[in-house]
Amino acid sequence: MFSHASAVADPRIAAPAARPLSPLTILFGSQTGSSETLAKRAAREAGKRGFAATVMDMAQTDPVKLAAEKNVLIITSTYGEGDPPDNAKALHTALQSAPAGSLTGLRFSVCALGDRNYNQFCKCGQDFDSFLEKLDAFRAAPRVDCDVDYDEPFTKWLDGALGALGQQASTPATGVEVAKPETQNSKPETASGFSKINPFLAPILAVRRLSGAESQKDVNHVEFSLEGSGLVYEAGDALGVWPQNCPELVNSVLAALQCDGEEAVATPVGELPLRIALLKHYDLGKPLPELLTLFATAGVAAGSPPANFPPAENLLDVLDVLQAHPGRALAPADFVRVLRKLQPRLYSIASSPKAHAGRVHLTVGAVRYAAQGRARKGVCSTFLAERALAAGRIGVYLHHNSAFKPPPDGARPMIMVGPGTGIAPFRAFLHERRATGATGRNWLFFGDQRASHDFLYRDELESLRAAGSLHRLDTAFSRDQTHKVYVQDRMRENGPELFRWLEAGAHFYVCGDASRMAKDVDTALRDIIQREARLTPDAAAAYLDKLRAEKRYARDVY
Ligand SMILES: Cc1cc2nc3c(=O)[nH]c(=O)nc-3n(C[C@H](O)[C@H](O)[C@H](O)COP(=O)(O)OP(=O)(O)OC[C@H]3O[C@@H](n4cnc5c(N)ncnc54)[C@H](O)[C@@H]3O)c2cc1C
Ligand SMILES: NC(=O)c1ccc[n+]([C@@H]2O[C@H](COP(=O)([O-])OP(=O)(O)OC[C@H]3O[C@@H](n4cnc5c(N)ncnc54)[C@H](OP(=O)(O)O)[C@@H]3O)[C@@H](O)[C@H]2O)c1
Ligand SMILES: Cc1cc2nc3c(=O)[nH]c(=O)nc-3n(C[C@H](O)[C@H](O)[C@H](O)COP(=O)(O)O)c2cc1C
Repeated sequence: MFSHASAVADPRIAAPAARPLSPLTILFGSQTGSSETLAKRAAREAGKRGFAATVMDMAQTDPVKLAAEKNVLIITSTYGEGDPPDNAKALHTALQSAPAGSLTGLRFSVCALGDRNYNQFCKCGQDFDSFLEKLDAFRAAPRVDCDVDYDEPFTKWLDGALGALGQQASTPATGVEVAKPETQNSKPETASGFSKINPFLAPILAVRRLSGAESQKDVNHVEFSLEGSGLVYEAGDALGVWPQNCPELVNSVLAALQCDGEEAVATPVGELPLRIALLKHYDLGKPLPELLTLFATAGVAAGSPPANFPPAENLLDVLDVLQAHPGRALAPADFVRVLRKLQPRLYSIASSPKAHAGRVHLTVGAVRYAAQGRARKGVCSTFLAERALAAGRIGVYLHHNSAFKPPPDGARPMIMVGPGTGIAPFRAFLHERRATGATGRNWLFFGDQRASHDFLYRDELESLRAAGSLHRLDTAFSRDQTHKVYVQDRMRENGPELFRWLEAGAHFYVCGDASRMAKDVDTALRDIIQREARLTPDAAAAYLDKLRAEKRYARDVY
């Protein structure tokens, strides 16, 4: 019922060929849907180039099934600290202990998605690449490690990989094999024509503060109109938002560069005044090493190597680097050449289109902190909190995530753990289930600092509860007592009941902080299963693997 496998070769293109289609399996490891989307794109391209391509979720295969394959493309992201995405975990583990020689005869190539801001850049793709090599599979084309701007390197890799696999295909020409058309998840990526690189300029309808005036946080409910865009989303999807940099930060950068902002510079959309380029097109966050090199080289050329060069860990953003080199202005054109391009941010959608047609809601926590004596602001979250309403229209696109959806069977129970902004998709799930009349029971664990200031969507959740659309609501307000109480404590207190829900077929969802909360919730879930089912640790881990493979344990964590 949950299989993701789908053959996608286009029979109209295949029909005239005299050769059989070469089989190709495209495996994706994906947490938030990008690798899956690319796998489908790869399958469409492969279909045009004489392959019978099948897209497959990594959770649906194992080393034995892989050994029976001829040609495999792997597209996977990396999560946590160099970890595989959830759906790739079991295969990642199994391949490590598979015997040498077990994949002889398999031809493969790997596309790794990642983000250079993380220390373990593209680690999971690198792991799969080396596991397959150790198991004697043949690397038909070199791996590509893609940063967040993955379109171009992906396209180049795909072209090379399909070319290499095509050349090496040695099946005799005996007839034409017609692949089944794609049956599942066949939603075109850009049915509306809008996409990450061609965003819809969505009118912003509202920015309403959810956290109380005395809260230590600034969490906002943000609403956009999608009317007229043709964009169609589902509960569980995310919205990509193109932000602009803070004008005060841009002023500080211009001052450090000794520029007035009118200087013309190149940008991805053509020549623009430096001020506009810095506001809209370049990332002023974590500096590229090339920026430091530029200063070092400029210094040497000018005969004045930098004195007391600050340690790299103190240079958190581009302005830190500029201010560490006072009086050593760079030419604007050289400067922008060593900046990253500004990237969109993803936000889990907090609305269901069945309840809020033509609109999309987000729950956005503003990132603000101080470092080295300077107040710092997250680019997109504070753009939405402070300047989005004035901007009027904002570039957005949909990011589909088929791995994070309410249970397809409306009668199944669902358990949702969503502290802080992690509440967002669960508000969408609850609205969706109410709108569709789903009969399954719904259990939400919510937590935040204080009930009086941080109980996001409190009235709405209580109304849903009163109306019988939310069957259980357990809260953990961490700072309302002397000791911390977290959502996983509430899970443990309710362990027997939680396990009964799982045994009754419940889906278990987690959303919010990846680095601490999601790990601790995973441990608590494992402990509850182990205790209630009286299992060994290994058997409890296998229970969780099975939940994952059945798509009954899904996480949207960041
Ligand atoms: C699939 C997905 C769904 C998401 N859903 C939501 C959501 O529903 N709601 C939501 O609010 N966010 C969500 N996020 C997070 C969101 O995408 C952004 O990452 C977040 O808003 C921060 O972006 P920013 O541009 O404001 O901050 P950035 O400019 O990107 O700055 C963030 C960076 O600042 C640094 N930083 C932050 N705090 C500190 C600190 N105290 N000390 C030192 N450095 C620090 C870290 O390096 C951090 O990576 C989601 C992310 C993903 C991937
Ligand atoms: N990648 C990014 O750029 C980015 C940007 C924004 C947010 N985030 C992540 O998103 C998270 C969501 O932020 P948020 O402010 O909405 O919520 P949050 O920080 O997750 O806080 C929500 C509640 O969770 C509690 N908590 C802290 N540690 C926990 C743990 N180990 N297990 C369970 N609960 C725990 C907090 O308690 P206490 O605070 O009292 O300990 C608070 O009561 C942030 O923590 C951050 O890590 C990431
Ligand atoms: C919480 C979190 C952790 C991540 N950890 C890493 C990492 O360790 N290394 C890396 O290269 N990329 C990391 N990434 C970036 C993702 O791999 C990247 O965004 C990728 O395009 C996501 O693809 P997907 O949607 O298919 O999962 C992380 C992203 C998030 C949100």
